Amino acid sequence: MKETILRIEAPCKINVHLRVKDRRPDGYHDLESIFVALAFGDTLWVERTEEAGGCTILMDWQALQTAGSVPAEGALPLEKNSVYRAVSLFRVKTGFTGGIRVRVKKRVPLGAGLGGGSSDAASMLRALQVLVAPNLSQQELLEMALTLGSDVPFFLRGGTAFVSGRGEQILPLKRVEGVWVVLVYPGFPSDTAGAFRLLDQARPEPSLEKEEGITDLIYALEKYPGSWPYRNDFLRVFLEAGNQEQAAVYQRIVQELKGWGADFVGLSGAGSTCFGIFSREGVAKEAGIALSGRKTASNQRYFVQVTFPLAYVVNEGVE
Ligand code: C5P
Repeated sequence: MKETILRIEAPCKINVHLRVKDRRPDGYHDLESIFVALAFGDTLWVERTEEAGGCTILMDWQALQTAGSVPAEGALPLEKNSVYRAVSLFRVKTGFTGGIRVRVKKRVPLGAGLGGGSSDAASMLRALQVLVAPNLSQQELLEMALTLGSDVPFFLRGGTAFVSGRGEQILPLKRVEGVWVVLVYPGFPSDTAGAFRLLDQARPEPSLEKEEGITDLIYALEKYPGSWPYRNDFLRVFLEAGNQEQAAVYQRIVQELKGWGADFVGLSGAGSTCFGIFSREGVAKEAGIALSGRKTASNQRYFVQVTFPLAYVVNEGVE
């Protein structure tokens, strides 16, 4: 009998709002964020094999070559690959010892703040739930997801959500309709842990800052993006206290997106992807074409993608 191959789409996300609160005793930071999953991402094909304990992962980097973000030889060892980590954790938690084979078509740049690796990990957990452990509870899956990374729980469901705590408190929200998103990856990755350290060093006590009410933040999402009260704490600190060359690139991309008519401009995650929200498809596409020709100071090409918010994450099929 031909083995079942499960195909799962692993969408990327942006954070239209990202407020980083105080550092907690465990070293993590409490967040308040609005995550939006987009119709752009990686694809995984997952199947069981006869090889007990085996885990074969084939990474297809071809789509990322133009973005210049294919990791150098040896830069992504297996134990750092989020798909491999998901399989290993699943084995520990469930006792599963069967063989697994995965092909991953990578489209989302690495270190881009778009959650590519986190989404791959969440997709892998869902695939294993379908193929191996249909009785696994949502709570068990959520706990595994959080062990793999702070952004992983969001991707189990996707869509649009208000996310707090370390990333595990997820309140689903209605999708923003009628907007187009232009992603601009500036050609350099961002180091998340380093960005949190910079934030801790460079800014005043976050608890002293004025807070927006959570209800106001959530309601604002239904309003015209030009009036959104959202911000990204990392962008401010990158512009004021970050690497100067990179700060200049962020500044320029933000200006260019505004110049092309974006209603709202932001940074995703801890960088490095900037995004513009547009109400008109034609304008978004024009901006995308104009920006994809640009190069940064170090002659890196911007990687640009025009996309839109996804209603929900689950897009899987049997092949
Ligand atoms: O959970 P994840 O592996 O994605 O986090 C990477 C790093 O980012 C952590 O080691 C931590 O330094 C920082 N982080 C944080 N607070 C969060 C999420 C991440 O301080 N809520």
